[in-house]
Amino acid sequence: MNQLFTLEGKTAIVTGAASGLGLAVSECLHAAGAHVALLDIDADALSKVAGSLGERVKTAVVDVSDRSLLRATIDSVAETHGSLDIVVANAGVTAGPGYLTDAGQINAVEDERWDRVVEVNLSSVFVTMQAAAKHMKQQRSGRIIAVSSVAGLRSEVMCGYAYAATKAAVINLVRQTAMELAQYNVMVNGIAPGPFRTNIAGGRIRQPEVEAQFASMVPLGRIAEPDEIKGLALLLASPASSFMTGSTIAVDGGIMAK
Ligand SMILES: NC(=O)c1ccc[n+]([C@@H]2O[C@H](COP(=O)([O-])OP(=O)(O)OC[C@H]3O[C@@H](n4cnc5c(N)ncnc54)[C@H](O)[C@@H]3O)[C@@H](O)[C@H]2O)c1
Repeated sequence: MNQLFTLEGKTAIVTGAASGLGLAVSECLHAAGAHVALLDIDADALSKVAGSLGERVKTAVVDVSDRSLLRATIDSVAETHGSLDIVVANAGVTAGPGYLTDAGQINAVEDERWDRVVEVNLSSVFVTMQAAAKHMKQQRSGRIIAVSSVAGLRSEVMCGYAYAATKAAVINLVRQTAMELAQYNVMVNGIAPGPFRTNIAGGRIRQPEVEAQFASMVPLGRIAEPDEIKGLALLLASPASSFMTGSTIAVDGGIMAK
């Protein structure tokens, strides 16, 4: 049974690894035996996380919108370890509030904010997949996991336009990449989280009234803790999911079943 979920000897990269879901995913890949390279824009948070994980961890301060640095960092991890087995494109940012507030309405969306969210939430996911694919095609194995959102599966009253658009685009990027890479034994899947208690949007979801608003959308009646992403992340990274590719799976307390 343990063979289904072991990542012993594997090399993994996680973007946005210093907080929230990226941190939880990094912890679980590490606990399953992988060497994990943690990429994040936040140097202080990154060094704290690396200190708490201990051995088999590398860190790189990378803004994922810096495409050449992102590509070079992924190449360097693959070359140092001699293989690249798991890549999690997780880094993402909010696009501000949804259309129920004035600031979230279509005519209030500013070009600069739109462009930054597209760069971080979509273009960086593509570049991460592209850089990973280069190595994984050659070695004829690998797992790519992209973090989308339930906001990419349907309209979402609590999220801004650029967030909804980029998270939907990531889901089709997963399908498209999965089709090309299937012949190389590289599996590509997505995770679509519902509301989790993380630091996104400055930790806005931790405010009691905001938490209550999100919880009211969830059939299980609450928001999730970051640890609750670990099971699906481990499944998609491990031998247990050897016949899964091209899917994006919701971890949403039942939201998508409504
Ligand atoms: N928390 C939720 O409710 C929720 C729901 C659905 C999807 N998601 C997605 O989960 C992913 C992780 O978000 P989170 O909720 O854990 O947020 P978080 O803010 O707690 O963590 C995000 C991490 O990404 C890093 N980051 C941000 N911009 C970066 C950049 N340009 N380059 C490198 N690193 C960068 C941050 O420093 C932080 O460590 C995001 O893609 C987010 O859209 C979150």
